[in-house]
Order: sequence, then C-alpha cells, then structure tokens
Amino acid sequence: MQNPKLLIAGVFLTVALPFGALLLSSQVQLGDLAPAPEEEGGALYPATVPGLAVQGRDVYTSLGCIACHTQQVRPSGQGSDIARGYGDRPSVARDYVLQSHVLLGDRRIGPDLANYGARVAPTPKGTQTEPEKAAALAKSLAAVHVAIHHGNTFAFLYEADAKGDFAPERADALAAYLLSLRQDYNSPEAKLKK
Ligand code: HEC
Repeated sequence: MQNPKLLIAGVFLTVALPFGALLLSSQVQLGDLAPAPEEEGGALYPATVPGLAVQGRDVYTSLGCIACHTQQVRPSGQGSDIARGYGDRPSVARDYVLQSHVLLGDRRIGPDLANYGARVAPTPKGTQTEPEKAAALAKSLAAVHVAIHHGNTFAFLYEADAKGDFAPERADALAAYLLSLRQDYNSPEAKLKK
C-alpha cells in the first residue's frame, strides 16, 4: 500500500461527510422553529407551561407512562387519529419546540395524549363555566382518568402511606402535566379542522 494515510483520510471523509450533512440538514430544516402566533400580533403557541407541569413531566417519565402512550397525532391520510378524536389537527414539529425532552413514544396501548389537556378541558371560549371551576374539574378528571383507567397500577399516587399521610404532590404535578398537553391552536404548518 503506497499511501495508507490517504486511504484512512478517504475512509474517514466517506463516513464523516454524509453523517455531518445528515446532522446539519435537520438543523437547517428545523433549527429555527419557534412558537408562532395564530394570527398576526396574537399570543404565541405552543405556550410556556407552568412549573408544576414541568415537575409532572418528570413524574410521567419516571412512572413509565411513555411505554403505553404516544404524544403524536397522525395526519388523516396516515391513520384514524383525528377521526378517533385524539386531536383536531395533525401534530407538527413546532408543537414540541419548548419541550426539553420530547416524549413522542412508539407504542400506543392506551390513547394518544398529545392533545389530552384540550380533550378534558376545552378552551373556555365556548364554555359557560368559570375558569377556576373548569380548571379544578379538569384537574380532578385527569386524576380520575389515571386512577380508573389503570386498575390499581397507579393507585399509590392517591393513597395515604402507612402513617396515614397523603402526599398529593406527585399526583398534582402529573395532572398539571397532563392538562398542559394541548395542540388546540392553529400552527403555520397545520390548521385545526373546522
Ligand atoms: C401498561 C400500559 C399503560 C401504562 C404504563 C399507562 N397507561 Fe394510561 N392508559 C392505558 C390504557 C390501555 C388506557 C385506556 C383504558 C380505558 O380506556 O379504560 C389508558 C388511559 C389513560 C388515560 C385516559 C385517556 C383518555 O383519553 O381518556 C390517561 C390520562 C392516561 N392513561 C394516563 C397515563 C399516565 C399518566 C400514565 C403513567 C403514570 C399511564 N397512563 C401509564 C395504558 C397504560
């Protein structure tokens, strides 16, 4: 072999260039995505979530909810998610830009949760209830869903310990997280179905 260094450099570049291009192309396509308003001058979506919801995301991760729940609504042509009521539009990359850990999931044993918050607590636009009452109701509904849909699996979140103390922090945080999951706004890439 006349020039092994050249050969090694050639092999390195053959691997490194396409790999680098792959990394860069996704950065070029999606790197600039940021929250966008529904209409000019309006509020930005996705909205930032409360701190309790961020804690709830850690509870969600630690309890392995992702093993059975996805957070991605597929477009009408690729499944019946929208017909089933999982969301009013397909999920798009912009929906996830504020999430430090995107919990898309890859198995759907339970329902998709991408738009769960909006399913349980529709935006007050059309409702008659006062916002605080609606929020309290939504919170208890989310807790009830976790408790009843899974038999006894997560009952420990809602039970008192041996001393009789009930520490609802984790359940509260989990409910706040579940309610923060909403894709009920128009995004430049996907409009809500009318
Ligand atoms: C072993 C699989 C499995 C795991 C793990 C799991 N779930 Fe579920 N989940 C399901 C199934 C199945 C249903 C639907 C049950 C039914 O319809 O009665 C469901 C239903 C739900 C619902 C109601 C959804 C709706 O649209 O009404 C919520 C909320 C929920 N799960 C949240 C959670 C959370 C939070 C965790 C983690 C603490 C979790 N799940 C872990 C399987 C799972």
